[in-house]
Amino acid sequence: MSTSDRQLRVGMVGYAFMGAAHSQAWRTVNRVFDLPLRVRMAAVCGRDQEKVAAAAARLGWDDHVTDWRELIARDDIDVIDVCTPGDSHAEIAIAALAAGKHVLCEKPLANTVAEARAMVAAADAARAQGVRTICGFNYRRVPAVTLMRQMVEAGRLGTIRHVRAVYLQDWIIDPEFPLVWRLQRERAGSGALGDIGAHIIDLTQYVTGQRIAGVSAVTETFISERPLPGEASGLAASSSGGALGKVTVDDAAIFTARLSGGAIATYEASRFATGRKNALRVEINGSRGSLVFDLERLNELEFYDNDRPGAEQGFTRILVTEPEHPYLSAWWPPGHIIGYEHSFTHQMRDFVQAIADGTDPAPSFTDALGVQLVLDAVQRSADAGSTWTPVDPLGA
Ligand SMILES: NC(=O)c1ccc[n+]([C@@H]2O[C@H](COP(=O)([O-])OP(=O)(O)OC[C@H]3O[C@@H](n4cnc5c(N)ncnc54)[C@H](O)[C@@H]3O)[C@@H](O)[C@H]2O)c1
Repeated sequence: MSTSDRQLRVGMVGYAFMGAAHSQAWRTVNRVFDLPLRVRMAAVCGRDQEKVAAAAARLGWDDHVTDWRELIARDDIDVIDVCTPGDSHAEIAIAALAAGKHVLCEKPLANTVAEARAMVAAADAARAQGVRTICGFNYRRVPAVTLMRQMVEAGRLGTIRHVRAVYLQDWIIDPEFPLVWRLQRERAGSGALGDIGAHIIDLTQYVTGQRIAGVSAVTETFISERPLPGEASGLAASSSGGALGKVTVDDAAIFTARLSGGAIATYEASRFATGRKNALRVEINGSRGSLVFDLERLNELEFYDNDRPGAEQGFTRILVTEPEHPYLSAWWPPGHIIGYEHSFTHQMRDFVQAIADGTDPAPSFTDALGVQLVLDAVQRSADAGSTWTPVDPLGA
C-alpha cells in the first residue's frame, strides 16, 4: 500500500460508543485504503483524567486531554472529530472551525435549527480558508446503500412513487432504565426522532435525491418518568436506585411526508419496538422497479426490475461484495462479507480524500441542516396535533 507519509492529525472529543467506532475507523482507514494522507490519532479528549487516559491506551490515541478547548488550541491537530452528545456539537464545531480545523461532527448536527444554521455559517466561512466539514450520517456509506443511490440516480427505478422507512430499537422498554442523556431534551434535542429518525431522513433524501417537503407527525412518550442515572452513561447505563426524573423527549415518532420529486413517504422511529434491536429498513418503489435495504442483512440489496419479462419477474438478492460495488475492492474477495463498523471506515476514507483533494465531502453541514429542518417540522407538526407542516427552506 502506497499511502503517503503526509500526516493528517486527528483530535477526537468523546470516547464512548461513537468514540470507539470512530477510533476503529481512524485506525483502519490507511491500512485498507490507499490515501494521500496518513492519519495520526494524535489526541482524545474526555473530562475525567483517569478514564480518558485508559481510553487513549485502549483505543490507540497518542495523547489525551481533559478539555476540548485544549485540543482545538493545539497546532499539531488538523481535524476535530466531535463524538459528544448534541448539546455540545455547535460550541465545539464552531470553535474548531474558527481555529482552522477540519471538522467531522456526529449526527444529528445540532439540537436546534438555530444551532445548525450557526454551524453552517461557520463551515461556510471556514471553507474559504480550505477547511472541510462532514456530518456523521454513516449509513450512507454502507456499500448496499451507496449502490442504492447509484441505481436510483441511473434511473433504474424510474419515477419514485413511494419511500417506506423504519428505524426501530427497544433498549428503553424497561421502565427502570435510567434517564440517560438521550432521554433529556436539553442534552439530546429530541428522542427517537433525532437519534434514529435523523438517519432514515438523511438516508432516504440521499438515496432518492429528493428533499422532504412537508410532514404530518405523531410522537409519543410512553414512559414519562425514569430513575436518575448512576455513574455510567450510554446505552448500557444503570440507575442510581433513587429519585425519578422527567423524560422530556419522544420515545417514538411516526410521520407521513411528501418529497420534492412527487413521492409520498412514511417514516417510523421507535425505541419501543420490542424485539427490534437496531432494525433500519428502507423500501423504495418506482415506476420501473423497487429497491429494499435491511441493515440486519447489510451486505444485500433487493432489486425488483419491472423491465424484465413477466416470467422472470421477482425480487433479486444482490450480494453487494463484488469489486465493482462501492468501497468493496479495498476489502475481501467476493462473498466475504463486511459489517457495521466498515461504514465508519468508509466515512473516514471519503473525508480524508476530500481534505487531500480540497473538495467538499458529503453530507455537508448544509445537508445536515436539511435533516435538522425536517426534525423541526416533525416536532412542530406533532405539537400541533399532526397538522400538515411544510419543511422550512434551507436558505431561510
Ligand atoms: N452515526 C451513528 O450511527 C451514531 C450512533 C450513536 C450515536 N451517534 C451520535 O454520536 C454522538 C455521541 O453519542 P454516543 O452514543 O457516542 O454517546 P455516549 O454517551 O456513548 O458518549 C458520549 C461521550 O461524550 C463525552 N462527553 C460529553 N460531554 C463532553 C464534553 N463536554 N467534553 C468531552 N467529552 C464529553 C462523554 O464522556 C462520552 O465519552 C451523539 O451526537 C449521537 O447522536 C451517532
